[in-house]
Order: sequence, then C-alpha cells, then structure tokens
Amino acid sequence: MPGTVVVGTQWGDEGKGKLTDLLAATMDVVVRYQGGHNAGHTIVVGEQSFAVRLVPSGILHPATLNVIGNGVVVEPQVLLEEIATLEARGIDTSNLVISGNAHLILPYHQEIDQLAERYLGRNKLGTTKGGIGPSYADKAARVGLRVQDLLDAKIFRQKLDVALKEKNAILAKIYNQLPLSADDIADRYLDEIAPRLEPRIADSVHLVHQALEAGKEVMFEGAQATFLDLDHGTYPFVTSSNPVAGGACAGAGVGPRHLERIIGITKAYLTRVGSGPFPTELHDEMGDLLVERGREWGTNTGRRRRPGWFDAVMLRHAVRLNSLTDIFLTKLDVLDPCEVVKVCVAYEVDGARLDHLPYHQSVLHKVRPVYEELKGWQTDCSGATTLDELPPAARDYVMFLAEQGGVPVSYVGVGPERLQTVHVA
Ligand code: GDP
Ligand code: IMO
Ligand code: MG
Repeated sequence: MPGTVVVGTQWGDEGKGKLTDLLAATMDVVVRYQGGHNAGHTIVVGEQSFAVRLVPSGILHPATLNVIGNGVVVEPQVLLEEIATLEARGIDTSNLVISGNAHLILPYHQEIDQLAERYLGRNKLGTTKGGIGPSYADKAARVGLRVQDLLDAKIFRQKLDVALKEKNAILAKIYNQLPLSADDIADRYLDEIAPRLEPRIADSVHLVHQALEAGKEVMFEGAQATFLDLDHGTYPFVTSSNPVAGGACAGAGVGPRHLERIIGITKAYLTRVGSGPFPTELHDEMGDLLVERGREWGTNTGRRRRPGWFDAVMLRHAVRLNSLTDIFLTKLDVLDPCEVVKVCVAYEVDGARLDHLPYHQSVLHKVRPVYEELKGWQTDCSGATTLDELPPAARDYVMFLAEQGGVPVSYVGVGPERLQTVHVA
C-alpha cells in the first residue's frame, strides 16, 4: 500500500506538524525520517497546543504507531522530557517506538556545536546548538553511538571511550576546554536513560515493512526542509541531514516504490531562521507584519524568523527535487490584511533573467527577485473550509502558486488549529 511523504519545501516551519497530525487520523504508521530536536513541530487542537521535537506528529492519534526512524539523531534527555510532558497532558505515548539504528546525540556533540558556532564568529551558521551536525558527522565518520548501543553496556562503553578520546583532544587543544568524563556519561546514559528507553527500542524497518505488506497506510514525516537539505539546500547554511523526500527512503528503510504521494508543505510567504541567502527577504514593515501575524518566532530557540515574500523559483525547484504530487499551502490567513501580495516568479542577475535556481551559491547571493503583484483580499479568511468560501482574490493567489509550481494545491491552511484547513480536492 502507498506511502505518503510530508516534506517542507522552504526553510522549515512551514506547518509540517499541522498536516502530519491532520492526516495521521487516517494513517496506521507515522515515521520521522531525519533530523533531531532541532525540529519544532506545532499541533493545535482546540485550545490546546503541542510542540514536538523528536516525537512524530502523529502522536495524538492512539491508533497510529509513531516511529522515530533510523535516520534521526536522538538526544535521549530531550526525548524523555518530551514524552513526560505529553504524558502529563494526558497523551498516551505507548504507541511510540525508536529505531535501534538511530544515532545518539551525546553531551560532547552539543558542546562542540556550541563551541564551533562561537569559533566561526561572523561566519556562524546559526544552528540550533543541539549537537545535530556533530552527531551526523560522527555517524558519517563511523564513530557514532546508536540507540541500540544503550542495550549493551560493554559495547556502549567501548564505543564511548573511542569517541571521547578524540573529542576530548578536540575540546582541549582546539577549544581550550576541560575534558568530559566517560564515567559520568556512561553512568547517565546506561543507568538513567537506557532503562527508560529500552521498552521502546525496536526494529523499525521491520515494523514499517510489516505495515506496508499488510496494506496499511504509512506516512513519512520530514523535519527541516528542502532548502536546509545537506545536498540540495543553501550550503553551508543547511542542516546535516536529507529532509528531501528521497531522505525518507534511507531514513526509514523503504525503497522509492513505496513513496506514492509526496506532499510539499509550503507557507504562503517565506521565513528562514539562522544565516544564509534569502532573495525575497523583507526588512520593512511588511516583514514585521508577517512576523507578528504569523507568530514567526522559533518554537525551540525563540529566535525571530526572517520574513519574505513567496518565492516561486524555489517552489519549482522543490517540486523537482522531491517529485511533489501536491501542495499543502499554509498560513494563507497571515496575508489577510495585505493590499498587494507579491510573488517572486524569477530572478534577475547582471541584467539577465533566471527562471530557475542558480546552482552556484555566489549567484544566489546576488540575485534580485522579479515580482508579480497580485491583489490582496483584505478579508478575514480564517473561517473558510472550502475553496468557495475563500475570497476570490485569495483563491486567485492559491491558484497562481499552484500554476507557478506546476502541481495542485490540495489543502490550504487558514489558521493554526487542526480544523482551520480548506480541503481543495
Ligand atoms: P513545522 O516545523 O513545519 O511543523 O512548523 P512550526 O510548527 O514550527 O511552525 C508553524 C507555525 O504556524 C505553528 O505555530 C503552527 O501552529 C502555525 N500554523 C500552521 N498552519 C497555520 C495556518 O494555516 N495559519 C496560521 N495562522 N498558523 C499556522
Ligand atoms: P522544523 O522541522 C527551521 C536551521 C537552523 C540553522 C540550520 C542548521 O521545525 O522545520 P542545525 O541545528 O540543524 O544544525 O541548524 O538549520 N534549522 C531549522 N530552521 N526549522 C527547523 O526545523 C530547523 N532545523 C534546523 O536555524 O539555520
Ligand atoms: Mg518548526
């Protein structure tokens, strides 16, 4: 049976949590396939708001199995706190399992992330400082520790000693810091964390394939987004994993034939957190309005997100990179008061027009957006549930974006709440 991928098409925070939660009602399994607690996915149900970082956004549906896939990097303390917070709010998390092949974020990863950012000074990436990059770096260097290592104290200690020897040399010689104690880390991870996580550690690939073979519906939830992708994003201002839809194959352990529907989550304007190029960035009152109305402050870090107009050049690229089948357009309501809404349809560089994303990053840094201006609707659209209930100018905007991207818009978000969603088809 088909798999559905939920993938961010911009620089993150498009509303992946909202759509995943909405669709999880009809899904048997939701698998998070990459990233770590750098993600912050918000789900709003009635008056209640939930912010999840490592836990998949299908967690509010007790009949849905939620899987933290092998492609994720897990900070166990954060995960345990997240589980405790959900449980304290009456959410049953017995439907949550963690892949034994997922990698661990250890204390030295977090410390090195913070120190490396400080070391970069003006050139810093603006990471979430959670140790995401250093943990993935260790995975690639084959000195990482995996979740399954928590189940074998001897192996855990052996691997930790190898990794920590190098890390302590880096901490001391490059960053002038005190070494970390292997005993302290082993005590905490093996005595406190391992027993609490053990019942949830599973062969996630087997579980996912059992579900697929039984004809069940499986959804693959991405974190971050296309333009934060390690290979396809605005490198080096990216995260250290592959959020693109193809990442779901490696990060969950399925072949591409299982990915049938690929939904691109697309905000009706743009935001970005941290450093990096942003052709349509707004530094004016319009930008402030998007931030205020869209509540564009990071879920985890509280950082103000950088706002900008919609960029259709990026959307077209995201359609290609992910094989998007359709789009969930979010936060249309944020644009309600605008007299005019602008969409970047091409770039201009050195007097020439570019209709596609330049592959050379230096060019992207100097492009100027070519805007098409559309009439604003200046009407509150937050109560709409069908396309017909949207003001005509808002409908035109939605259709214009679909045309620009070359794929249909299936849902339109008109507010944060689960039900504030226009079902187009
Ligand atoms: P994610 O990381 O992609 O899951 O997105 P975040 O949860 O970090 O950020 C999206 C924010 O927008 C959250 O606060 C959501 O509650 C909110 N949101 C999602 N969809 C809509 C929408 O259609 N309208 C409005 N106004 N807010 C939305
Ligand atoms: P969700 O899943 C927005 C950004 C950081 C930084 C860069 C690298 O909520 O959309 P990292 O800590 O990953 O090494 O930081 O990536 N970033 C995000 N921006 N939403 C996210 O996740 C992000 N996760 C990482 O701000 O610029
Ligand atoms: Mg987010």
